Amino acid sequence: MQHIKTYHDAFVNYLNTFVKPQEPSSLYDPIHYILQLGGKRLRPVLTLMTTEIFGGNYNNGLDAALSIEVFHNFSLVHDDIMDDAPLRRGQETVHEKWDINTGILSGDAMLIMAYQLFENYEPEVFQALARLFSKTALEVCEGQQYDVDFESRDDVTIAEYLKMIEFKTAVLVGAAMKMGAIVAKASPQCQRAIYDFGKNLGIAFQLQDDYLDAFGDPETFGKQVGGDIIENKKTYLYLKAVEFSNTADQRQLMHLYGINPTDATDKIETVKRLFESSGAANATKQEIENYTQLAFSVLEDLKISEENKTALKAFGNQLMNRTV
Ligand code: IPE
Ligand code: IPE
Ligand code: MG
Ligand code: MG
Ligand code: MG
Repeated sequence: MQHIKTYHDAFVNYLNTFVKPQEPSSLYDPIHYILQLGGKRLRPVLTLMTTEIFGGNYNNGLDAALSIEVFHNFSLVHDDIMDDAPLRRGQETVHEKWDINTGILSGDAMLIMAYQLFENYEPEVFQALARLFSKTALEVCEGQQYDVDFESRDDVTIAEYLKMIEFKTAVLVGAAMKMGAIVAKASPQCQRAIYDFGKNLGIAFQLQDDYLDAFGDPETFGKQVGGDIIENKKTYLYLKAVEFSNTADQRQLMHLYGINPTDATDKIETVKRLFESSGAANATKQEIENYTQLAFSVLEDLKISEENKTALKAFGNQLMNRTV
């Protein structure tokens, strides 16, 4: 197993060979823009790491890693339209820089490109990757639809929220790792276990994303802080704040999550104060820790070296202490 930086740099080099000027530029420029905006490259790094953990050469995982990253970036382009988000990785979102129609079609093209990348694999591997990808991509759509549906509902439960984030975010992290296992021809049992590890880590990751959306540093976060509050997203923070609050605070929170003021500064400030005073902020941190530990416990039964387990845990811990 190499250093994370080795996987990261190998991936970015490969991505750069993929990103070439193409016509019509109004379709391809936005694709190149979003793919080269950076980001943590978490999912492709996990694919390359798992390829090696299960005995493959990470170079064989590059197309699967690129597929996952292209799909992820496609989902961000469409997600930013759906969430009316102005900023991504500290820069303008695609639909702000161009327009909504551009975001839709460039996003569609990226989804197709993601599939196309599997063509570089032999038939059996191709089929396994495509099957996993189709299932995962549909689940992401389901998760995204729940996320939007929940904006206008006032009776969302914690269980529904957890299912929603499992689908919109965590299954892709699980799939990124399972793809590495598929490329390395790991046993079905290993494939399942590494998928579960990634899925639980992905749930912790989305909880952390929701936490940072409210409490992140605008200087480093790269997205509009408070965006979820503006959009009335029923996050763990919100659901726990309602659960923990007295009737007056509950009423205020529910009122604020039923309005869309033009200037949301006061709304964001009040809501954040209630997230903290109710204990919801701390409960969220605790839940991030719980899912991280759950992911780690899956590793116990996995037949890989202690060194690799330690590396996966270090990566997980690093992820949960991020500011971006
Ligand atoms: C953002 O994903 C969308 C979520 C699922 C939270 P990342 O936080 O991995 O975004 P980048 O790729 O690093 O920008
Ligand atoms: C992201 O959820 C899920 C997908 C893009 C599929 P968010 O809406 O929380 O992601 P960010 O915060 O915009 O990155
Ligand atoms: Mg969003
Ligand atoms: Mg969203
Ligand atoms: Mg978010």
